[in-house]
Amino acid sequence: MSRKSIGDWFAETFHLKDIPFMGVPTYMFSIEYWLGGIASAALFWQALTGLLMLLYYQPSDAYDSTMAIIHSVPFGSVLLSSHLYGAYIMILAVYIHGLHVYFKGAYKKPRQFQWVLGVLMFAMVMITSFVGYSMTGDVLGTDAVDVGKGILASIHLSALTPIFFGNGTDLDLFTRLLGWHIILVTLVVLLFALHFYLAEQNGFMPDLKEAKYKAPAVLRKDDARIKPWWPRNFIFMIGIVTLTWGIILMLPSILALPQIVDKVPILFSPYPGPSPTSPQASLVPAYPPWFFLFMYKMADMPFPLAIDVSMGALIPLVVLIVVPFIDRNEELHPLDRPFLTALFITGLTWLIELSIWGAGQPGVPVKPTWLLLVIIPPFIISFGGIYLLHFMWRSMKPKVINADPGEKAATSNGVEDRLLSILGIIVTAVAVIILLLSFSLNPITDGPLIGLSWSALLLLFSADVFIYFRYELR
Ligand code: HEM
Repeated sequence: MSRKSIGDWFAETFHLKDIPFMGVPTYMFSIEYWLGGIASAALFWQALTGLLMLLYYQPSDAYDSTMAIIHSVPFGSVLLSSHLYGAYIMILAVYIHGLHVYFKGAYKKPRQFQWVLGVLMFAMVMITSFVGYSMTGDVLGTDAVDVGKGILASIHLSALTPIFFGNGTDLDLFTRLLGWHIILVTLVVLLFALHFYLAEQNGFMPDLKEAKYKAPAVLRKDDARIKPWWPRNFIFMIGIVTLTWGIILMLPSILALPQIVDKVPILFSPYPGPSPTSPQASLVPAYPPWFFLFMYKMADMPFPLAIDVSMGALIPLVVLIVVPFIDRNEELHPLDRPFLTALFITGLTWLIELSIWGAGQPGVPVKPTWLLLVIIPPFIISFGGIYLLHFMWRSMKPKVINADPGEKAATSNGVEDRLLSILGIIVTAVAVIILLLSFSLNPITDGPLIGLSWSALLLLFSADVFIYFRYELR
């Protein structure tokens, strides 16, 4: 069967040409338009590996069953370490996607509700990851549960402790954590479905220049540059998914190599830490997962915990949710929204500073003078810098707006095509060799090598997909 007929068979069998998803112009086949797609791919990886681990995880024996997944279940160490790193990459992808959306002004009309759903998903992804991290029952997870209970007490919600953390027995604790992990993931998936539906209805946000930097920025459905969703969007999406999955598998597999694993700082270890009852447990500082390090440093501040929780989590979340409703003007360029842009950059700088500080000095109380040193300079630099840029941008804006955006036509030439097809053949040949070699690996003892070979296969496959895309569909 020729390549074309396989594609046609696939399209006919699954009625792909009838799928009502919107196509996009060629310039949108670039990673910046697919950051949400990367977060989505990570979400699917989490669901897949989580469901497989559900077959082996036992709340009655949380730590030992987690260790059994790593040491006795075929491919178990790859599943567990990539589930952990899948969460990390998803969190990073959500941060990058959210920032990109902010800087493009994509929270404005007509995408306000997409933004609100995104912020809610962000909060739920963070809590889901926190719960998952605690489920291993290692010393870090046990500390995290204590911090969770402390936070509830600080905001006078101790009455909820049994609902989230059970009645005090380990069995009840880990049964609750597992239950909440699944409930939260289900909620994230439901919110994602709505978020995705709205993304389809509103369409990808076009280039800012094309929109003359004014909301509402929408692509007209009859725009002649839009080509059908099948096959271009489908193929590109497969490339994005396999690229994301390849990275998710690659990072923990490298860190889990026997030559490296003992040198990895505990915060980034691909495996759980020691059991809380083991002698090594006393040597491990009480670290939260890295994405909550900022909160951990906030808890070292000279304020009651309730204030830390409000300033570190509740107030920023409320601000994020209301952003589309307070910033209602039509300006899309970040320098036309200088106050919010400076506020975002300041907040982000505080987040990074506090996280690094939390990693370097866990549990060391913060003196008020240090606090001022960390809080005030980023505030002054961000606001001063952004307002300066704002005035410069205002003077050059008319020239930029009137310049013709002129979409670059995709060109093709024989030499490039030949190089692409040779590259495609080489990539496929390397993938086949890796696939054959991977059959000789032991699914229980060679976890890191298996993870590396799967990641290489996925990355090579995604390279092949992008080569094919460029060769055939650009
Ligand atoms: C689990 C987390 C998330 C997933 C899986 C996700 C997924 C997606 C997808 C697939 C799209 C379609 C186009 C694209 O790739 O940009 C999208 C668009 C969008 N997302 Fe998200 N998202 C998530 C979190 C967020 C967050 C945290 C925010 C805001 C803070 C947000 C706000 C938006 C907005 C406003 C758009 C429209 C952007 C445009 O049209 O250019 N999303 N998201």
